[in-house]
Amino acid sequence: MNRWLTESPAWRALETHAEELREQHLRELFASEPARFDDLSCRHGELLIDYSKQRVTRQTMQLLQQLAEQADIAGWMTRMRAGEAINHTENRAVRHCALRAGEAAPPEVKSVLARMAAFCEGVHNGQWRGYSGERISDVVNLGIGGSDLGPHMAVQALAACQQPDIRVHFVSNLDGADLASTLARLSARRTLFIVASKTFTTLETITNARTARAWLLAACGDESAVARHFVAASTNLQATGEFGIAPENVFEFRDWVGGRFSLWSAIGLPIALAVGFRNFEQLLAGARDMDEHFFTAPAHSNLPITLALLALWNTNFLKAHSHGVFPYSQSLALLPAHLQQLEMESNGKHVDRQGLPIDIATAPILWGTAGTNGQHSFFQLLHQGSELVACDFIALGKADFPLPGHHSGLLANCLAQSSALAFGQTEAEARQAGIAETLLPYRTFPGNQPSSTIVLPELTPFTLGQLIALYEHKVFCLGVLWNLNSFDQWGVELGKQLASRLAPCLRGEAPSDALDSSTRGLIEHLRQFRN
Ligand code: F6P
Repeated sequence: MNRWLTESPAWRALETHAEELREQHLRELFASEPARFDDLSCRHGELLIDYSKQRVTRQTMQLLQQLAEQADIAGWMTRMRAGEAINHTENRAVRHCALRAGEAAPPEVKSVLARMAAFCEGVHNGQWRGYSGERISDVVNLGIGGSDLGPHMAVQALAACQQPDIRVHFVSNLDGADLASTLARLSARRTLFIVASKTFTTLETITNARTARAWLLAACGDESAVARHFVAASTNLQATGEFGIAPENVFEFRDWVGGRFSLWSAIGLPIALAVGFRNFEQLLAGARDMDEHFFTAPAHSNLPITLALLALWNTNFLKAHSHGVFPYSQSLALLPAHLQQLEMESNGKHVDRQGLPIDIATAPILWGTAGTNGQHSFFQLLHQGSELVACDFIALGKADFPLPGHHSGLLANCLAQSSALAFGQTEAEARQAGIAETLLPYRTFPGNQPSSTIVLPELTPFTLGQLIALYEHKVFCLGVLWNLNSFDQWGVELGKQLASRLAPCLRGEAPSDALDSSTRGLIEHLRQFRN
């Protein structure tokens, strides 16, 4: 039990404070605190987080900071940076920051980056060619989870920096529809595959890689072509060799890089190919800049710590078990999917570091989509439904694809949503706006939905690096606060084991009698279609 946390003076003080604040509406808080924006926002360089629309006061933040001190976030930062095995259930260090440490990076990291740079240059300038001598025009990343979501998100986010004459595709799903529909658009002579898998044992990725290899061989009929068309990003050199990828085509990283933190490693190769190695370096530089801020800024002005404390407040004291992320940027449309893995795979845990049950809520359900699209689907529930949903709005000062009249409308909608969610519309206001009496119940908005607005000056490789690292460190802080291991993911194992037992039953190669009646019934039903 995590009594040391919930019975601590800092937690108790927060409980009392939450009770006092419970009846206060954001309308009242804004009316009584005219300087809320100045008091409850923080900046790092040109990056701003306005959290004045969260249901907090300055006192709340002070109390939360006491909790951060009690949890010893600073001590855990030191342990992480010193390379201690803070991922204790896998006995691994957590060193993704070393991947983006620039001059201070370990020699092995620098040497892989140098190889990635040379490889990208070769592909871009046409020195690296396919088996028929043609230039590479398409790159297909075969990976899943952390070996797909981060790079995919970053490539889409940096579309404005896209290199000419090269397209990068992502295939992750075991469903053949994913790979088949991608291959249908490609020519084997000009396609390069990156098999991206930390373990090189993941069923989805290895199945897709084998099929892609067969597709290539069917086109060229020559095994030696594999070396010109397959490279790998992995920690498992034995398995990449067994697959037939030449050692010089393997970009290696270490087990101290967690899958969901791996886009800074060789797993970032598709990003570098899509936007150029210089831009990839800028992405690393942005993350490094956020690392420096995180490791040095005091708690009250520390962006990741602030986001973590707000998340803890919303989850454990306001009981908001859902967290919406709404980038008002089409380019950042895949950010919620990346953050889903980052936050939910890291902190979706029910036991603490000592293996004891945690009796408070941990990671909320994270979801979201790009604005303004969400406004025309699920925002209704945020405005007038019954759920408390903590939201992050993300806005860009400058458009990455400026078209006349678009960006100001986009920003206006972003601000309008956070404002409507915070303040709502009372019956009196609706009446004043001329709404008919019979419609008043339908036209009032309760408001009081908490949100933060994160503003990036513009979307560049550097600011994207800052943004991703901001959320990574938020996740780390929450793990420390909840006293759990953010860096393992045992929860995904059971389903994998069951799937490997069920596959032979579906093929009719093993009996299904011992299975539960639902699974057995479904297998029998499905087998009739396969036959
Ligand atoms: O199944 C979950 C997971 O292990 C993630 O943590 C990881 O990002 C993903 O699978 C892919 O793993 P790999 O890179 O080893 O193929």
